[in-house]
Amino acid sequence: MSKFEGTRARLLPITSDVEWVKWAEDEVPYKQLPDIEGTVFVDGGIRHFIVDGLRMTFPKATVITAPTEIRQVTERKPKGELVLLKCANEATLLAIRQVHKHMHIGIQNAALPHGSGTDRRLGPDDFALFDCTASLHGYRSNVTRTPALPASTIPDTISNMKLCPLGVAKRVDEAPRLFLVLAYAKYFKHRLGHGFGLEVHEDPNLNDGNGVILQTGHTFLDEPGVYIEGKVGVRLEDCSYIAQNASTMYLASGVGGPASSPWKTNYL
Ligand SMILES: *[C@@H]1O[C@H](CO)[C@@H](O)[C@H](O)[C@H]1NC(C)=O
Ligand SMILES: *[C@@H]1O[C@H](CO)[C@@H](O)[C@H](O)[C@H]1NC(C)=O
Repeated sequence: MSKFEGTRARLLPITSDVEWVKWAEDEVPYKQLPDIEGTVFVDGGIRHFIVDGLRMTFPKATVITAPTEIRQVTERKPKGELVLLKCANEATLLAIRQVHKHMHIGIQNAALPHGSGTDRRLGPDDFALFDCTASLHGYRSNVTRTPALPASTIPDTISNMKLCPLGVAKRVDEAPRLFLVLAYAKYFKHRLGHGFGLEVHEDPNLNDGNGVILQTGHTFLDEPGVYIEGKVGVRLEDCSYIAQNASTMYLASGVGGPASSPWKTNYL
């Protein structure tokens, strides 16, 4: 890191024995490292100019993305990380509920802070989609609700969507598709979800092509949805994790847990 960032780095909530390499503003960062000849594993999300810098400075080194086994270490979260994720997700859900309380038929986007897109007023047959994220010490939440507004006239034709079971990622992706009656299954265009934690998108992906076995500590977004272009879309999204007893648990269960239907009063 730049020398002037030293104080900020010491304040970071990192408990492991990390050795910080510091450089002055007029120094080349890579040249502050000891000579490297072996293999350097980098995080897959690293910016490419850093990989280029390492390769140019250490021509005898091989700089490659860390193998799956190393990446998988961060996929499964220990208890401390789960607590942070629970707090972030619960706070997000509570915030969505507060905003929804202040919405009504006739409200315009412009009536809300940061409203954007169109200035159309919400009518009695509109859904309001909240797709929200928050971060607590770097740990992310991602919660989506698509509630009807009070006095909505939308017919109750969209089935409840249930939490996916523990199993192979591919099978987990199939479960809600089977659950949705055939008429709606074709409108479920998206994969069911994916892992998350420090990043909003992490492995494993919950899709038809993924044979990864979900294990204790895996955290993932469960985001079934029905998208009928030009007409209506409903997406429900909750973050979940696999507990020690192999149950799938919602991270926001402390404040009421998952969405079940846009019409139930406890839905949010
Ligand atoms: C939440 O996750 C969904 C699905 O991965 C993504 O499309 C969306 O952008 C995320 N929301 C935010 C606010 O980051
Ligand atoms: C599994 O573990 C979770 C988290 O500790 C707990 O809340 C849940 O009740 C347990 N479920 C069963 C079926 O024991």
